[in-house]
Amino acid sequence: MLNRITLKDKTFELYLPHDAIMKGIESVAARINADYAAVPTPVFLGVLNGCFMFMAELMQRIVFDCEVSFVKLASYEGTCSTGEITDLIGLKENLCGRHVIVVEDIVDTGQSMEHLMGILKKHNPASIEIASMLFKPESYTKEFEIKYSASSVPDHFIVGFGLDYDGLGRNLRDIYVVKDGF
Ligand code: IMP
Ligand code: MG
Repeated sequence: MLNRITLKDKTFELYLPHDAIMKGIESVAARINADYAAVPTPVFLGVLNGCFMFMAELMQRIVFDCEVSFVKLASYEGTCSTGEITDLIGLKENLCGRHVIVVEDIVDTGQSMEHLMGILKKHNPASIEIASMLFKPESYTKEFEIKYSASSVPDHFIVGFGLDYDGLGRNLRDIYVVKDGF
């Protein structure tokens, strides 16, 4: 395992080795297994692209009957405004009356998750909780609870295990933090 890597113009240092990531995921899986043991067929909804590694490891440790699906938040520039608009794409399931667990790579300010929760709640799920691999408590600005997180991280840029810097680093099996903070 490398202690230091370079992606484009940035240097990153090892922050969470693979074993530590696995330990965090195991404890999240154990809590979800306990909390959902008696819940009828929950649906795990992964938010692409960043969730793919976390989702794969988490789901192998879930022991109850469940469904697994993925969505994506697509952003594009509106033609008549300068604001960025995000749309939810890929939702095929009827979530009405279902118990939903949203699976994310990282919750930073909470802005994207708040937006996503707003859309999902319109589908009237029976319950909705969040499982995020990483959580940045120092930069979080929202009120809703991030019930399951494998690890809290400082307010610095992170790559690896699904997380990217300008498209690179998602394939790394360890998690790295940017060297001089940004
Ligand atoms: P938020 O809306 O500020 O919570 O940011 C959420 C999204 O920004 C995440 O789903 C990531 O895609 C991206 N993001 C936030 N922090 C990081 C980071 O440290 N590394 C890579 N991506 C990040
Ligand atoms: Mg994300």
